[in-house]
Amino acid sequence: MTTLTAAEATIQTDTTLAPLLRATNVVKHFAAPTPLWGKVAPPVQAVHHVSLAIYPGEVVGLVGESGCGKSTLGRCLLQLIRPTSGHVWFEGKDLTTLNEKQLRPLRQGMQMVFQNPYSSLNPRMSIGETLAEPFLIHQKALRLSTKEIFPKVSALLNKVGLPTSAADRYPHEFSGGQRQRIGIARAIALNPSFIVADEPVSALDVSVQAQILNLLKDLQAETNLSLLFVAHNLAVVKYLSHRVAVMYLGQIVELASVDDLFHRAAHPYTHALLAAVPDPTKRGIAPSLLEGDPPSPSSPPSGCRFHPRCAWATDRCRTEAPVLRTLLSNSDNASPSSILLPNEKRPLVACHEAEKVLAAGGKYA
Ligand SMILES: Nc1ncnc2c1ncn2[C@@H]1O[C@H](COP(=O)(O)OP(=O)(O)OP(=O)(O)O)[C@@H](O)[C@H]1O
Ligand code: SF4
Ligand SMILES: [Mg+2]
Repeated sequence: MTTLTAAEATIQTDTTLAPLLRATNVVKHFAAPTPLWGKVAPPVQAVHHVSLAIYPGEVVGLVGESGCGKSTLGRCLLQLIRPTSGHVWFEGKDLTTLNEKQLRPLRQGMQMVFQNPYSSLNPRMSIGETLAEPFLIHQKALRLSTKEIFPKVSALLNKVGLPTSAADRYPHEFSGGQRQRIGIARAIALNPSFIVADEPVSALDVSVQAQILNLLKDLQAETNLSLLFVAHNLAVVKYLSHRVAVMYLGQIVELASVDDLFHRAAHPYTHALLAAVPDPTKRGIAPSLLEGDPPSPSSPPSGCRFHPRCAWATDRCRTEAPVLRTLLSNSDNASPSSILLPNEKRPLVACHEAEKVLAAGGKYA
């Protein structure tokens, strides 16, 4: 019998809530390539036992160092890559049990905005053709005549701030920011209820980033979209998200409301990420609380995966992996808003020493 983590137990027992998307125990391991000689390396543990629920109209930010598994998790949720194990429920259906044909109608409701607006659009298709494609694929189900498609393309362009005449042009004629608007238009074409936005602004100039973030924020509020918003930049995550999940080496180590995460973080890794955010009021580069590079996801450390880099590590951390759990002293420490939230939305943390870390404000004496 599989043992449930505290988070999964909470998810499975709380029947008063209705998340739009719910992932339990999702694992994605990639087999290492077969070498010409020598031993085959162990698989890359890109995502390792991740559980997460996203509610209607909720934006969940996903942050963590490069290579920690953010994109892989996003793609597993959408079934763009199939998880090695675990389950993903969307609109009440377990996507992991469905084949491609069964998934097709559900794909209308869940879309992705990609990081790189330069490579995510087909250079040989006009913008009109690109935006008409989702309608053509689902034309029968949507009961659309071909004549009805162009007005929809035009409306989409206008919605993301582009003129109808953009339909006749090709991707190379647009700037990065405009291309990302087109990527967003394509993602929202079929009125999805859930979008994974995988670093949608990190390839853009800072001046354009704010415009795209505002566009996403407006669309989210207007259509009550749920978003998994992947980003490196914590300031960006703070601007857009209701809750934030912090990922380290394939696992979620802390999941909390923006307010709790930014003011009452309980995981040493979250504190290290927060300390690395540049403070415009101070000169110089913020000192890093993180030592060394992240370990290889092919051979993660025993016990807590963060222990080789953690100032708070004890002997227990080296042997026993912490589960994602609510804080023991939650009612004393959490903000009033989080106390009122249902169980599943309470701050969760995977750290043996979380209560001490929280009490010390992350500063190891
Ligand atoms: N198709 C694949 N085959 C083998 N390994 C992969 C594959 N895709 C991702 N990985 C590995 O899985 C791990 C997680 O990768 P992923 O791209 O999900 O990280 P990320 O957090 O999105 O990183 P970044 O912030 O750089 O985008 C990395 O070690 C990566 O090399
Ligand atoms: S469980 Fe131990 S090693 Fe891991 S983050 Fe907490 S204190 Fe550090
Ligand atoms: Mg990525």
